[in-house]
Amino acid sequence: MEVKPYNQQSTKKEQVEEMFDNIAPNYDLLNRVLSLGIDTIWRKKAIHTIKKKKPTHLLDIATGTADLAIEANKMLNPGHVTGIDISNEMLEYGRKKLDKQGLTDKITLIKDDSENLSFSDASFDVATAAFGVRNFGNLDKGLSEINRVLEPGGQLIVLEFTKPVSFPFKQLFNIYFKYFLPVIGKFKSKDSRAYKYLYESVQAFPDYDQFLERMKKAGFTDCSYKKLSLGICAIYQGFK
Ligand SMILES: C[S@@+](CC[C@H](N)C(=O)[O-])C[C@H]1O[C@@H](n2cnc3c(N)ncnc32)[C@H](O)[C@@H]1O
Repeated sequence: MEVKPYNQQSTKKEQVEEMFDNIAPNYDLLNRVLSLGIDTIWRKKAIHTIKKKKPTHLLDIATGTADLAIEANKMLNPGHVTGIDISNEMLEYGRKKLDKQGLTDKITLIKDDSENLSFSDASFDVATAAFGVRNFGNLDKGLSEINRVLEPGGQLIVLEFTKPVSFPFKQLFNIYFKYFLPVIGKFKSKDSRAYKYLYESVQAFPDYDQFLERMKKAGFTDCSYKKLSLGICAIYQGFK
C-alpha cells in the first residue's frame, strides 16, 4: 500500500499539497525544534557540495518556505535562484521571508510540479531538492523531469532522510522519530497525521544504493551519496 498523508482515496500529490498547506504556518519553527537546529547545518552541507560548480541558474525543487534557496543565494551568490513547490501556503511563507530579507530580485518562487515542470529543456546548471523527493507522487517522473531541465553536465543535489542502521543509535532514534516527534508535531501543527506520515514515508522510501539506482534510471551519471549525522539523512548527487 502506498504511503500517503491522510487516506487511500485521493492521490498522494493532492494529499501532500493539502498537508503542507496545513502545516506551513509552523513548518520552520517545527523544523528547528524537532531537529535541534541541525536541519540548517544539513542544508549548508548540501550547498557546499555545489560550491565548486559556481552555479548561475539554480533550481530549488520542492523549495517549501525557501530555506535552501535563501541559503544557496547567501553561500553561492548565483545569478538567480528559482524555487518551485506545489504548496501555495509554503510558498507564501517563503515569499514573506524574501520580502523581509530584500531578496525578491535574487530568488523567484513559483507554484510548479516537479513531475511536470513548466521550464524548457536545459534551463538550469544546478538543481537541489531538500526533503522533497520523498513526497513526490511519482519519484521516477519527478527525477526525469529534473534531469530534463538541467543542461548537459548539470548537477543534482538531493538531501533526504535515511534510516540509521547502527545499534543503539538506530533504536534510540526510532523511538524519538516514531513516537515522540509525532506528538510534538501534532500539538504544534494541529495536523495529527503530518508527522506520522513523516516517519512512515521515510521508512517506505528507497535509500542509499536503491535511490542511486533511481537517479541513474532518470538519466543521472556519476551518482554518489554521503551519510550525515549517523545516517539520519544523506546528500545524494548526480550529473546529467
Ligand atoms: C518537507 S518540505 C521541504 C521544504 C524545503 N525544501 C526544506 O528544506 O525545508 C517538502 C516540500 O515538497 C513539496 N512537494 C511535494 N511534492 C512536490 C512536487 N511534486 N513538486 C513540487 N513540490 C513538491 C511540498 O509541497 C513541500 O513544500
